[in-house]
Order: sequence, then structure tokens, then C-alpha cells
Amino acid sequence: MTGRLYGIGVGPGDPELMTMKAARLIAMIPVLAYPAPDGGASLARAIAAPFIPPGRTELALAIPIRPGPAPAGAYEAAAALLAEPLAAGRDVAVLCEGDPLFYGSFIYLMERLADRFPVTVVPGVNSLSACAAAAQLPLARRDGTLTVLPATLNDDKLRALLNGTGAAAILKVGRHAPRLKALLAAMGVADRGAVLVEHASRGGQRVTPLADWQGEAPYFSAVLIPPADKETAP
Ligand SMILES: C[S@@+](CC[C@H](N)C(=O)[O-])C[C@H]1O[C@@H](n2cnc3c(N)ncnc32)[C@H](O)[C@@H]1O
Repeated sequence: MTGRLYGIGVGPGDPELMTMKAARLIAMIPVLAYPAPDGGASLARAIAAPFIPPGRTELALAIPIRPGPAPAGAYEAAAALLAEPLAAGRDVAVLCEGDPLFYGSFIYLMERLADRFPVTVVPGVNSLSACAAAAQLPLARRDGTLTVLPATLNDDKLRALLNGTGAAAILKVGRHAPRLKALLAAMGVADRGAVLVEHASRGGQRVTPLADWQGEAPYFSAVLIPPADKETAP
């Protein structure tokens, strides 16, 4: 009998936004793993900390949380680390910031392990919902559309994908903020009321009109763009 691999979404930052299921499983599962980039602190672990009992086996996975591809072998090494207790019959929970399957590192671990071990994914509140709540900005209504894009795409791709869309959200803003601001201004999109949301649901949460933003943004920030033809009547 092998152990089961769990991908547990711990939400965008506020521990109260963790699900009851996440809290219950974290209190039960004997081995807890989390990305701890560059040997530093783990954001996912910090979010889940109030629910982690003392004495758990903890595995810090050397997976970077920054734009761009992970160093060669990072996911193989992390998957190998998880495979040891799983092969020995112990359940392992990987704590994931936000939702595990929404731009999450867990995707690459699950893809490497699912053929050998049973997997359960526990969804979490994702950053998009937390940013919308912080900005009190509806993401989609009636037959409206929502386009989600990473800021890491080049200008041509972003322009093509934003052209004619309804509401849009851009993640992984970080150092791309100045380029994004210029692009969205040139497209006439920024003056639809676009906002930049930093650290939604945790300390440092701030919502700033994109037009007022200067310089780079933190990695944990997103741009929300309301649709051009905002319909407000219910
Ligand atoms: C690799 S993705 C992970 C997304 C995460 N799995 C989720 O469900 O939201 C990281 C990006 O999500 C966004 N993000 C995550 N948490 C955030 C927060 N609390 N506030 C604002 N943006 C956040 C940022 O754009 C960041 O660059």
C-alpha cells in the first residue's frame, strides 16, 4: 500500500480563507511539504501555520517562486523527495498558495507522481477571487467574459489576447508593471478603471489605480481590468 498525495490549496493569504477540508487534512496528514524557494520561508506554510500540529514531518521543496522556468531538475528532485514517504505508505500533503491547479507548482509534481500514487486535490480560494474582493470589482456578470493572462507574455501576445475582450486579469505582474502600464495605456484599456492589487487578503493589501502606479510591483500582485461596456443594472 502506498500513501496518497494531496495537493491542498491554502488560499491567498488570510488563514481564515482556508477551507475546512484543508484545515482538517493538514491536521491529520503525517507528512507536510511546501515550496520553500531558495531555502527561504514558505508562504504556503505560513498561511497554514495555525493548523499545523507540532511534530509533523515537514519537507521543504526547493522550487523557486518567481517568474520564468524552474532550474533544470527542480521538479524531478522535489518529486523524488515526495516519492520516498509515499512509497513507504505515508500520506503526503503539498501545501499550495491559492489553488493548486491555478498556475500552481503542484501541477508539475502531480504530473510526475500520479502514475505511481493516488492523488487528491483540495481546491483553494485563488488569488483572482481575493484580488476582486479587495478591489470590490466584479469579475464577470451575465454573458460577460473574463480573460486571465500572465504578464510574462510578450507585448504582441498580450495585445492580441486583450483586444476586444471583456474583463481581464493579469497575474505575475512584478517587474512587468511598467511595461504593462504602458501597453494598457496605449490600448486605451487602462482608463476603463484598471487597478493593481498587491498582497490580497494579507498584510500589505493595497489597491491602486493602474494609472497612478509607479515602477515595478511585488511578485504577489495582479492587474484587474473591468469590461469596456460595464452593465450595472441587475
Ligand atoms: C504562480 S501564481 C500562483 C497562483 C495561485 N496558485 C492562485 O491560486 O492564486 C502567482 C501569481 O498569483 C498572483 N497572486 C497570488 N497570491 C496573490 C495575492 N495574495 N495577491 C495578489 N496576487 C496574488 C500574483 O499575480 C502572482 O504573481
